[in-house]
Amino acid sequence: MIRLDDVSVRFEHAGANAVAALAGVSLEVAHGETLCLIGGSGSGKTTCLRLMNRLQAPSSGRVLFRRDDVAQLDPIRLRRSMGYVIQEGGLFPHLDVRANVGLLCELEGWDRARIASRVDELLELVRLPASDYGERFPAELSGGERQRVGIARAFALDPPVVLMDEPFGALDPLTREHLQREFQGWKSASDRTFVLVSHDLREAFELADRIALLRAGLLVQVGTASDLLERPADDYVATFTASFAGA
Ligand SMILES: Nc1ncnc2c1ncn2[C@@H]1O[C@H](COP(=O)(O)OP(=O)(O)OP(=O)(O)O)[C@@H](O)[C@H]1O
Ligand SMILES: [Mg+2]
Repeated sequence: MIRLDDVSVRFEHAGANAVAALAGVSLEVAHGETLCLIGGSGSGKTTCLRLMNRLQAPSSGRVLFRRDDVAQLDPIRLRRSMGYVIQEGGLFPHLDVRANVGLLCELEGWDRARIASRVDELLELVRLPASDYGERFPAELSGGERQRVGIARAFALDPPVVLMDEPFGALDPLTREHLQREFQGWKSASDRTFVLVSHDLREAFELADRIALLRAGLLVQVGTASDLLERPADDYVATFTASFAGA
């Protein structure tokens, strides 16, 4: 479904050395698969997602979506095929919850009634009743509520791919567990492809079919939970998974 082919991303910083956010990363995500990107802060996880929906261009290498180089695809159409849950919500502050969630439907030219019922359905999905939350603005929500609105928005057009950047990060344990359980339902109810970013190995093991571990822009290992636990590619993977194995 998605393929990174020897991709590097370099960021130039004035007066400092360039940062290699990603170096020679090759990675495939199969149709219907849930792949979780994990790794420390600054290891390149968000950059990986942004390559997939063409918010970031590679410095070298190619990114393919269904065999097409994303550089050749219409970016607007590409992003409508790929829901994106942005790290920390990424809502439009001047739009209320309804308008944020329904924005893509509106851009697609849906009529008002259809948008309204879709928004109700989506807010239900993330447990934010439209009657209580629909007319609020992002500044009037908690961090976790904003995050849930961001999840609802990503599903608006029922896209075949959903990219989620730490979607369960800022939630209290009960809400997180609830949404993780919902996520399992979203996974099994469709053949949608998910690429998920997480800091949390336990979450990755529970939700993902395969895990890709990044370290300082390098892809250290891709595999199932048992691959990482039983056959770590190097000491870093072993150390990273040790806390989980010991738990
Ligand atoms: N637009 C940018 N301009 C310059 N450098 C950037 C830019 N975006 C990211 N970087 C750098 O690229 C590296 C990878 O960043 P990225 O956001 O992909 O990390 P991450 O794994 O998502 O981290 P976190 O877990 O903190 O969200 C970091 O060193 C970061 O400082
Ligand atoms: Mg990030």
